[in-house]
Parts: sequence; structure tokens; C-alpha cells
Amino acid sequence: MKDICVIGTGYVGLVNGTCFAELGNNVVTVDIDAQKVESLKKGVMPIYEPGLEELVERNVQAGRLHFTTSYEEGLRNAEFVFICVGTPEGVDGEADLKYVRAAAETIAKTMTHPLIVINKSTVPVGTGDWVADIVRNTQPKPIQFSVVSCPEFLREGSAINDFVHPDRTVLGSLDKSASEAVAQLYLPLRAPIVMTDLRTAEMIKYASNAFLATRISFINEISIICEKLGADVIEVAQGMGFDKRIGHHFLQAGVGYGGSCFPKDVSALSYMAQTHGMHPQLLNAVIEINAFQRKHVALKLHDLLHDVAGKTVGFWGLAFKENTDDIRESPALAIIEALLEQGATIRAYDPVAMPNTAKEMPQIIMCKNPYDVAEGVDAIVVATPWNEFKQIDMERVHKVMKQPIMVDGRNMYEPQKMRELGFIYRGVGRGFNGEGVN
Ligand code: UDX
Repeated sequence: MKDICVIGTGYVGLVNGTCFAELGNNVVTVDIDAQKVESLKKGVMPIYEPGLEELVERNVQAGRLHFTTSYEEGLRNAEFVFICVGTPEGVDGEADLKYVRAAAETIAKTMTHPLIVINKSTVPVGTGDWVADIVRNTQPKPIQFSVVSCPEFLREGSAINDFVHPDRTVLGSLDKSASEAVAQLYLPLRAPIVMTDLRTAEMIKYASNAFLATRISFINEISIICEKLGADVIEVAQGMGFDKRIGHHFLQAGVGYGGSCFPKDVSALSYMAQTHGMHPQLLNAVIEINAFQRKHVALKLHDLLHDVAGKTVGFWGLAFKENTDDIRESPALAIIEALLEQGATIRAYDPVAMPNTAKEMPQIIMCKNPYDVAEGVDAIVVATPWNEFKQIDMERVHKVMKQPIMVDGRNMYEPQKMRELGFIYRGVGRGFNGEGVN
């Protein structure tokens, strides 16, 4: 059992703090947002993440997980402090580090004994050294500390499973004994641990996310070519994926990637390269293709509806992906915004992301279920691949739509079947034996 302090109760902080408590450690989670801390103490989660609420409750009851606004309380017995604060995208794509700076300064002012400071927030290469400088220069009197970078690879929607079964843990530090101490926290997970220096660890995170985003943009570009040439991108991806050097993951064509990580991290990496005089052509192409992929859905609607002004478009899904209520950089919202600007009315349903979306886009008519969305609409856009959209009674949907147009941005349905049911159906990259665009 170790004493751990976690700064930040966002996605990364809350999941890590809770999972470390579940492993038997004593965890104090600190957030400067008093309202959030009060809610957490009452068991109200600030985010939707399958399994998290039960895990928080169990560990709070067991006395291993605590929430507070006080750094003093958080650091009192801590041997390790994890910085898990947000690093939003600033102007020009660079990461905004104001929250990391504030956390480092407050740790420095509050610490009373030696500490290992672990950075989990995704930060530009070199930030670990910068954090060390901040702590050193802010401490009222010198107390020993080390900085370790331990980048986060959790995916929203499967974060707990990803914590328990990581593909690897990356630890970067100039202080090998500090990395080894942090490694002890991860040993129970029995996954490979990569030990390296600070900057390399920070780069591993960016390179991993940029590579995954590149795979998505690659298959999205292939999907556009498939549409023109009459090939089916789903089968293309399947055929490619059996090659062990390629693999099946992250080859699903769709509306483009969204969320709090890929868009921000690819831009930040590109920005870092540019500020060092480089021209990151591949990263820029990945970003450009992703933006086009969203536009492509809107263009399909234009093509089918001629003019969207005065038309009603239904959306199945608002979250940037399934199993989350996160709408940050959600492709659905970007497409909706464009349609609203052109004078369309939007009806939508998402199992969990409607409250978050309503705060940002009160104009959207929120519906009870996918069938309710379909009532009287000129077209439906499938924007998020929720499981509950897999078994839809399409005949019922067809009956209540004004026009049977469906733009399936996630390739959830079979084009042939949909056409047999009378839909005018467009998937992504689903040409068929030269029969043109689907
Ligand atoms: C990602 C990384 O996977 C994770 O390691 C990191 O810690 C945080 O960023 P996350 O943003 O939760 O995780 O979602 P992920 O499952 O990676 O999906 C990102 C986006 O890509 C989503 O919009 C998803 O719908 C899209 N996607 C994913 C595709 O369009 N096609 C695919 O084949 C896979």
C-alpha cells in the first residue's frame, strides 16, 4: 500500500485515482473546483464512464479514496503526486499549460517532505524539465523531489479496463530510482514497462496518438477513393488487417476522429515541429483529411437534399464516440453546427450525451429515442456508433420519415439491405462492384 495524491478529477485523474485505490493504495484526489469535489463526495460523477461510479463508491467506502480541495490534505502523507490536469489547445495548436504550471507551483509551495512528481497530463516535449524548474524555483526551501513522465493511454468508454489491462506503461525520468519507485505501483498490472528519459516518454505519447490518428485519416482517404472507384472500404480494411504488419485496429472509416486527445495532440505535435523550423507534412495532411471527412457528410446531405435550408435532419449520436458523454471535438456537433448555419432544423438522440450537448446547442430538439428522431425528418445522419443503434427496426423508421434518406457516418448498416427497405442510403466508402457511390 502506497500513499498517492492525484491532482485533477477530470477523466485521467478520476480514473487513475480510483483504479490505484482499487489496487489497495491510499489515494487522495485534489481538485480546486469545490463543487466538483462536493458532488464526488456524494457519489455524483462529473463524467459518464462505464463502471466508474461503482468503483468510486466501493473505494470511498473502503476508506482508500478521498476527495478534497486542499493540497495540504492531498500531500500530507503522499509519496507520489500525479499531475492529471487539463492541457487545452491554445492558439495555433500549441498546448496551453496554465493548469500544469498552477499545479506544479502549488505542489512546490505545499510539499513538506520528498516527493515523486508524476506527470500524466499530455504535455509538449520538454515540459517535464520545465515542471522541475517550476518546482525548484517555487519551493520556499529546498526539499528533494523527482519528476517522472508517465503518459496516459486510457480510452474514454473503456478507461477502467484499459487501466487494468494496459498494453504497456511508459516511465520517463532522469532519476532512475524515481522511475523504479513508480514502476512498483504498476507491477500488479503485469504489463511491460518501458523505462526511458523524460523527453522520450513525452514523445511516445504524441507519436502514439498521432500514429493512430494517421491510421484513421489513411483509411478515411481510402474510403473516399473507394466511393469513386466502387470498392467497399469495410472489406478493404478487413483484407488489409489480416496482414500482421498492419492489423485490424483503427481502420474504421467514418466521420473522422474527435475527442479530447487526437485533434489536440496531432495539432500540438505539428506545432512543436513547426516551431523548430520543420514542415510536418504528414501530420498536417492527417488534420486536413479529418476536417474534410466531416465536410464530406455535409456534402452528401447537400447532394441528396439539394438545399438544407428549411429541412429537418435527425442525428443518431452526439458524443465523439460510443460509451461516453464527451462531446469535445465531436464530429456530430461540427456537422450540426454547419447545418444549423444553413438553416436546417436538427432533431437528435444520444443515450448519454444530450445534457452536455443541450448546454452548447440549445437549438437542437432532443428526442426520446432513435424512432422519435425519425419523425418527419428529411434525412438521418448516423454520427456515433452506439450499440443500441445496431438493432433498429428500420421499417418503423422508414414509415415515419418525411424522406427516407440516411447518411450513415459510421457504416453501421448494410447498404444493400437498406436499399431493399426503400432507403436512399449513403455509407462511408461503400462502393459496390463499380456500382458507384454508396
Ligand atoms: C485516445 C487514445 O486511444 C488513448 O490512448 C489516449 O489516451 C486518449 O486518446 P479516446 O480519445 O478515448 O482515446 O478515443 P479512441 O477510442 O482512441 O477514438 C478516438 C476517435 O477516433 C473517436 O472519435 C473514434 O470514433 C475515432 N475512430 C477510432 C475512428 O474514426 N476509426 C477508428 O478505427 C477508431
